[in-house]
Amino acid sequence: MALSFQDIHEDVDRILFTEEDLHNRICEMGRQITADHEGESLLVISVLRGAAIFMADLVREIELPLEMDYMAISSYGNGVKSSGIVRILKDLTSSVEGRHVLIAEDILDSGLTLSYLIRNLQARNPASIEVATLLRKKTLQQAKIDCRYVGFECPDEFIVGYGLDYAERYRNLPYIGVLKKSVYEK
Ligand code: XMP
Ligand code: MG
Repeated sequence: MALSFQDIHEDVDRILFTEEDLHNRICEMGRQITADHEGESLLVISVLRGAAIFMADLVREIELPLEMDYMAISSYGNGVKSSGIVRILKDLTSSVEGRHVLIAEDILDSGLTLSYLIRNLQARNPASIEVATLLRKKTLQQAKIDCRYVGFECPDEFIVGYGLDYAERYRNLPYIGVLKKSVYEK
């Protein structure tokens, strides 16, 4: 579906991935995950709040028995740069022990958030842990993360839409775009 100029939010500089791009790529990721995990069941964990929309779409493309659970962690506050300080705001309900865990993440930037999360979950003795991230920023990652499934590479700018926010706004945009610098450089 083509987007007209009017469909672009006034705070968004440009669209990186349309609804159609997202749908097509997430279908491919789901098919890949299904093929790689034949005969297994998964515990899919979403990192709230940014990854909730991605996870909702991804699980519907995975043809395997699976459970969903949620964790909320924060390394950002309302700013645009990772603080490196990770706090658990909400822990999982399920036990991870002996499970094949798939972490659904919205965006991998410095890697600090995921590296903390992986270490934390590893200590709970899962059978395996893998990461599916919708976006990976082209930055020098401070923490090297082994990400088995990556949706798209994206530029090192501030990204919003499809779950991603700036100060809790823009999560409901159906596409992914670059936020205008004028919005946060005031
Ligand atoms: P790190 O640097 O720890 O960051 O890999 C990962 C988390 O930071 C958030 N993040 C963003 N959120 N637009 C956003 O809306 C961005 O451009 C962006 N970059 C990082 C995000 O929550 C991610 O989980
Ligand atoms: Mg996040």
